[in-house]
Parts: sequence; structure tokens; C-alpha cells
Amino acid sequence: MAYYWYKAFHLIGIVVWFAGLFYLVRLFVYHAEAQQKPEPAQTILKQQYEIMEKRLYNIITTPGMIVTVSMAIGLITTEPEVLKSGWLHIKFLFVGLLLIYHFWCGKIIKQLEKGENTWSGQKFRALNEAPTILLLVIVLLAIFKNNLPLDITTWLIVALVIVMAVTIQLYAKKRRENEAKLNQENLVNN
Ligand code: HEM
Repeated sequence: MAYYWYKAFHLIGIVVWFAGLFYLVRLFVYHAEAQQKPEPAQTILKQQYEIMEKRLYNIITTPGMIVTVSMAIGLITTEPEVLKSGWLHIKFLFVGLLLIYHFWCGKIIKQLEKGENTWSGQKFRALNEAPTILLLVIVLLAIFKNNLPLDITTWLIVALVIVMAVTIQLYAKKRRENEAKLNQENLVNN
């Protein structure tokens, strides 16, 4: 029975962790774009994003990560046999990358606060695709385990996710270009 409890809270932790990771990098996008705004909007927005990022990271994202990992430890201690499975070893690798990404986001919060980060909103938008790919791979591994089929269906799903990610990036780029054009026209007309 304990195994099911650990698994339930493992899944709840994952939902919370990813909600935090996805929203955090969205905030980085707005934070980076705020650097282009005129004063006093720039200072006000930057201060607000700093507060939101810190709270999101400390109150949602990191606790989500801690719950996910501690419940995973619970799963392994209840059922140590699972450690012999090949899929779990591959999963460790991708979860390792996810943890690196998590702590790197924590570093970016500090850099943005000190004004030491020069990344554009576009770059942060692209960065937000990394956890999507990790989520896809880790969930597929956890569900299919050693039987993950590397057939046409899997590759079609991977291709679909990549196409969606690229479309989102291109749409955002186009929208920004239109906004810049509109601002330029307004400036000329005034
Ligand atoms: C320290 C990191 C992690 C470890 C050691 C770990 C380990 C485990 C273990 C032992 C199970 C039970 C498997 C079974 O009952 O057969 C499990 C289930 C699961 N894990 Fe993780 N996990 C970790 C992180 C993650 C992350 C980050 C995700 C998602 C992105 C994830 C997604 C899942 C899913 C969806 C299941 C349910 C699979 C099922 O019931 O068939 N895990 N995990």
C-alpha cells in the first residue's frame, strides 16, 4: 500500500514541479522584455518580477522537486528490485538533466536580480522548450519502462512535439516583429 501512496505523491510532486518550471521561465521572458521598457515602468516591472520569481521558485518549484525526489526514494526503498531495471537507469540520466536545469533557473533568478543576465526574451522562450522535451522522455520511460517502442508512432509523437515547439517560437517571433513595426510607425506618426 505504501508504494501506491509514494507513487501518488510522486505524480503530484511532478505536476507541481513542472508547473513551477514552466511558469518561472515565462517570468524570465517578461523580466528580460521589461529591460527594454522606459522608466519608471522598467524599475517597477523588474522589482515585481524579482518578487514573483523568488516566491515561485522557493514556494512552488523547489518544494515540487523535493516531493518528487523524496517520493521516488520512498518508491525505491519500498521496492528495491526496481533499481535493477534498465529504464530507471536511463530515467536517472534525464532526471539528472532536469535537476541541473532546476538549479540553473535558480542561478538565473539571482543573475537577473543583480542585472548580470543579458539573455533576450527570445532566448528564454527557447529555453522553455527544454523541460518539455525532458518531460516527454521521462514520462515515456516511466510508462513504457523497458518496452518503450522506438517505432513510427513514437517518432511521430516526437516530431509533433518538435513541430509544435518550433511553431510556438516562430509565432512569438512574428508577433514581436509586428509589435516593433507598429511602435516604429507610431513613433514616425507622432
Ligand atoms: C529522482 C528522480 C526519480 C526517480 C528515482 C523516479 C523513480 C520512479 C519509480 C521507482 C517509479 C515507480 C515505477 C513502477 O511502479 O513501476 C516511478 C514512477 C513514475 N515516475 Fe518517476 N522517478 C523520478 C523522477 C520522475 C520525474 C521527474 C518524472 C516526470 C517528469 C517521473 C515520472 C514518473 C511517472 C509518470 C511514473 C508512473 C509510472 C507508472 O506508474 O507506470 N519520475 N518513478
